[in-house]
Amino acid sequence: MTRPARARIDLAALQHNFHCVEQAAPGSRVMAIVKANGYGHGLVDVARALPAADAFGVATLDEAISLREAGFDRRIVLLEGFFGVDDLPLVGGYRLDVVLHHASQIELLEKLPPGRALDVWLKIDTGMNRLGFAPPDVPAAIDRLARLGGIGSLRLMSHLACADDPDRDYTSRQLEHFTEATRGLQGERSLANSAGLLAWPGTRMDWVRPGIMLYGGSPLLDKTAAELGLWPVMTLATRLIAVNRHQAGDAVGYGGEWVCPEAMNVGVAAIGYGDGYPRHAPGGMPVLVNGERAPIIGRVSMDMICIDLRSQPDARIGDEVVLWGEGLPVDEVAAQAGTIAYEILCSVNNRVYFDYTE
Ligand SMILES: Cc1ncc(COP(=O)(O)O)c(C=O)c1O
Repeated sequence: MTRPARARIDLAALQHNFHCVEQAAPGSRVMAIVKANGYGHGLVDVARALPAADAFGVATLDEAISLREAGFDRRIVLLEGFFGVDDLPLVGGYRLDVVLHHASQIELLEKLPPGRALDVWLKIDTGMNRLGFAPPDVPAAIDRLARLGGIGSLRLMSHLACADDPDRDYTSRQLEHFTEATRGLQGERSLANSAGLLAWPGTRMDWVRPGIMLYGGSPLLDKTAAELGLWPVMTLATRLIAVNRHQAGDAVGYGGEWVCPEAMNVGVAAIGYGDGYPRHAPGGMPVLVNGERAPIIGRVSMDMICIDLRSQPDARIGDEVVLWGEGLPVDEVAAQAGTIAYEILCSVNNRVYFDYTE
């Protein structure tokens, strides 16, 4: 028998979530954010399941090339642009859109003989204070690009820092800054991530850029994915590979931190941090054993976790254990592990067998 750790990817759920994007932003085109291996779900499989996406957003040249070579003809946007002059022949050859966020990128373009006309998304820093041109520098950047001559289309974008929190007016201020910085400029506009497009109607504009909501994670602090009508796409599951009877006082796992308070069954499931399950999952983190919640106990190992089976005396070797997904929201698991769904979804790696269903 092969190791039973499985990520079941429900492509119908992905399509349903995409439809939620279309319903929320009916007037916008959609750049599906598929970077980091489609947030851990499989880059090409995710992209194939989204025929209505107008563009794909990725972070690396490798991701972009994988999509092109898989046959996608749509716009593919490098969200951090190119990292050095060596990237440029590939950017041109694979017809990739680039985000330009810094004057040093324009300097590189100025040093090169004009190649294929580049489709550019000019990134403006409206308050994230991470990447982007400061609003006063935008006109000069656009002038320099115009003088270059090798620019195809020019679009204007920014990224929201706090859209997940509907109680903070930071997003309204970013929207004002973006409107002000782009007043009178030509070009389509893009501001909204998942949280923006759901909670901040003014941010929708010409293009929306959903990521986490496509995969069924909630982008908003005050609402669960279910409340937003989003369906989980990944269900991470494995099986019990041992059920052992222990006595009161027996310590379980590395460090022996968890001690059995009474005679009890302890299940061992084949999944661990070597697969991407969070090592910092605390004792008490729920999993589903045969569909019922049970807490994990002791430290997460590289390949295994231990489960308190006192509520399930009939659980046996081979029974299914769900780590998150259908019946156990990934957001809840992430919060208990002190992180966010984005991180734990991206962390699932290729030791886990991926199973795609429509
Ligand atoms: C530039 C950009 N746009 C959109 C997104 C999608 O964000 P979310 O997954 O919160 O929808 C990301 C993700 O980090 C991003 O970097």
